[in-house]
Amino acid sequence: MLASAYDEAFPAGFTSVVERHAAAIFAEDLLAAGLSGLVLDIGCGAGHVTHNLSLRGLEVMGLDPSPAMLGLAQQRYPELRWVLGDASLTQLLDDRRALAGIIARYSLIHVDPERVPGILATWAERLQPEGHVLVAFQCSEDPALPVREFDHKVAPAWRWHPQAMAEVMNRAGFSERWRLVAAADDQHRFAECHLVLQLRP
Ligand SMILES: C[S@@+](CC[C@H](N)C(=O)[O-])C[C@H]1O[C@@H](n2cnc3c(N)ncnc32)[C@H](O)[C@@H]1O
Repeated sequence: MLASAYDEAFPAGFTSVVERHAAAIFAEDLLAAGLSGLVLDIGCGAGHVTHNLSLRGLEVMGLDPSPAMLGLAQQRYPELRWVLGDASLTQLLDDRRALAGIIARYSLIHVDPERVPGILATWAERLQPEGHVLVAFQCSEDPALPVREFDHKVAPAWRWHPQAMAEVMNRAGFSERWRLVAAADDQHRFAECHLVLQLRP
């Protein structure tokens, strides 16, 4: 029920031109860096963005902890690979392939901040040297409150100050490539950040 309501609210995945172009830059940048192999979409939801990235030439797989969301993705894009699992990647233990990239749009926000460093360490173990990561999240604009819970409709969620997210990722072994911050507007209650990093070799 929730999954189909979400799907109706976001029929195309992207909710702004900035989001669409951020995903396009991520894909082109990754390919231009000569990376090849699987790109994992963590918290892929209904799979629209996973599909968009496949059209941009990436080898993709979508992962989500919600069977209902994953069912929508599977139904709509049966040619792509979908796996039930969460950001901890414990469900991928048998798949030892080094990832070329990870995209986590508005899904890391649902992970308790205390668990985020451990999760990022796992991502670092799963990526190829210099593999790319894109995280998209609602921002805390107050550096004095770098991580704050907010009233997300679906599940507990936390907003991050972009610098706080960059720093926790830096401590997990990632260096920033670029970030894009879009201001809040009629459609977006908070400023939103797309932050792209790469694993240090
Ligand atoms: C707001 S939706 C975003 C969907 C998709 N990434 C997009 O950009 O359209 C958030 C998704 O994160 C998933 N999610 C929630 N908790 C998660 C976790 N611990 N690990 C990975 N994904 C999670 C939800 O099931 C949901 O599909």
